[in-house]
Amino acid sequence: MRATLLFALPVLLASCVATDERTYERSDEQSYERPAGQALYVSFDERVDELLARMTVEEKIGQMTQPDQEFLEDVDHVREYMVGSLLSGGGSDPPTNSFEDWRALYEKYQSKALETRLAIPLLYGVDAVHGHSNVLGAVVFPHNIGLGATRNAELVEEISRITAKEIKATGINWDFSPCVAVPRDDRWGRTYEGFAEEPMLVAELGAAAVRGLQGEDLGDPNRVVACAKHLVGDGGTVIDSGVTLPDGSRYPFDRGDVPLTEEELRRIHLEGYVTAVAAGVGTIMPSYSSWNGVKCSGSRRLLTEIVKDELGFEGFLISDFKAIDELPGDYKSDIQTSINAGMDMVMVPDRYALFFDTLAELVEEGAIPMARIDDAVRRILRVKFAAGLFDDDWSPTADRSLEPSFGSAEHRAVARQAVRESLVLLKNEGALPLAKDARRLHVVGPGADDIGMQSGGWTVDWQGKMGAITEGTTILEAIRKAVSEGTEVTHSEDGTGAEGADVVVVVVGERPYAEMHGDDLELKLDDEDRAVVANAAASGVPVVTLLISGRPLIVDAALEASDSFAAVWLPGTEADGIADVLFGDYAPTGKLSFSWPRSAEQHPINVGDEDYDPLFAFGYGLSW
Ligand code: GLC
Repeated sequence: MRATLLFALPVLLASCVATDERTYERSDEQSYERPAGQALYVSFDERVDELLARMTVEEKIGQMTQPDQEFLEDVDHVREYMVGSLLSGGGSDPPTNSFEDWRALYEKYQSKALETRLAIPLLYGVDAVHGHSNVLGAVVFPHNIGLGATRNAELVEEISRITAKEIKATGINWDFSPCVAVPRDDRWGRTYEGFAEEPMLVAELGAAAVRGLQGEDLGDPNRVVACAKHLVGDGGTVIDSGVTLPDGSRYPFDRGDVPLTEEELRRIHLEGYVTAVAAGVGTIMPSYSSWNGVKCSGSRRLLTEIVKDELGFEGFLISDFKAIDELPGDYKSDIQTSINAGMDMVMVPDRYALFFDTLAELVEEGAIPMARIDDAVRRILRVKFAAGLFDDDWSPTADRSLEPSFGSAEHRAVARQAVRESLVLLKNEGALPLAKDARRLHVVGPGADDIGMQSGGWTVDWQGKMGAITEGTTILEAIRKAVSEGTEVTHSEDGTGAEGADVVVVVVGERPYAEMHGDDLELKLDDEDRAVVANAAASGVPVVTLLISGRPLIVDAALEASDSFAAVWLPGTEADGIADVLFGDYAPTGKLSFSWPRSAEQHPINVGDEDYDPLFAFGYGLSW
């Protein structure tokens, strides 16, 4: 069998290698005027200015203050500090992660905000970066790296529309998404949050996500305010420039420095903001990282001159989590620098009383002009008006009619399609597609039966977690559902037991991580996974390997030992989409949105590099 295939291989491969021929033309006009999508916000200025004129300085400062709900010392502080927003950062959860508890959490705080003198409603923000993934039972979609492999902007828009609807079912009205990073070094822990290493693909899919989350006019009750992040160049940091956390732990890439000329920065990292602003994004989150040694969150060039004045952004800038604390200087100078540079709202998130008092002091002293405060609050109020928070039919409680669609089969079907289209087939010497009526299929490895592993970071917990962490279908379960009655599907964690089976399916890869905890200089399979592959290959049975990962890994030995090999990225809860491809119900169409290196020494490697020599090129993907 295998001999015949090998002989036929060149013909087979020649007809199967599919690369993405589309080139992503960049818009060569560099002159930007206020895009139509931003005119929406300005259209509310009459009502905004009327409200602004009635506000005290303290009420204005309150609107610029965003605590994380987990740090509130007293729920009445929402009223007393007149906060404009709250967030639930990673791990900032209600008593349980049930749908009901999340909805109750939002409604508790929104009702507090309405007790203030002017009853200005809250924007409540979460990181629903691949579905409303904090909440048990939500549909968890593939992370962006997988969506990049689909090349399907319409699908990304539909996923975002569904995500917005599931978020609003809990009442929450702001999503810190899409991440429009252009990750250029896969060793950065947040690579999987990026759609691609290629700027124009990121720009295309980022704008689609904004359209899906916000809809046409943001007033649609089933939509949420989007947030393009992290401005700018978060994916362009160089090795050994990363953050040292207060506990002394150091990380090579995350929150590091981007040593580029302005022309290079614009060409590689800014396009996602150009298209997001044009698509009408309501908020943008400046990055922890630096550009040529200057912290983005304190850069007037970036925050005001480029994003607001040049791109015509009329919404508001929200800082990242304690990001202004990382500016050089003391806390008071951090606030002064960041607000004067153009930051409009600060994700404090813990010392909100100190922030409030210090900002008030700076305004009192004239260190921050009142005009800057008014501009920030005007921008915040514009987004709130556009989001319908002042509409007569707006309610501080979640729309109960949305609950039946939360986690629904209809939503899961779209996620299943995304999983199908995100799978990239890298090698196939005839083991795929599998026969549904095989005698026995043996499924092995740590990722075979683990929703947590297949979902990755930002899932229920900030870092994600191994195990049956939420509702969904594992790869093993999907295979069992797909085969015919008489087919036996067996399983082992360590790769043994394949002898006598028709095929052994190996599922290995990265365990969940988020942010700096994913910074990794080697990017290879760990010893446990290598042993699984070796055990499976020793059986002499054809090996199909599925790699769960947030980026390309160095997989030489595993690739060599496999008859077929596919990257499934971080597919989320709907692994039926993987079975659809494995059994030939869907011929694979996924194409790499990140170059696949031959060895760790090649990092960073990106399409367009001189002497570009990856193992698999940007755009590569097999089919049949
Ligand atoms: C995090 C991330 C950012 C997220 C924010 C709120 O540190 O950098 O992507 O939106 O904090 O959780």
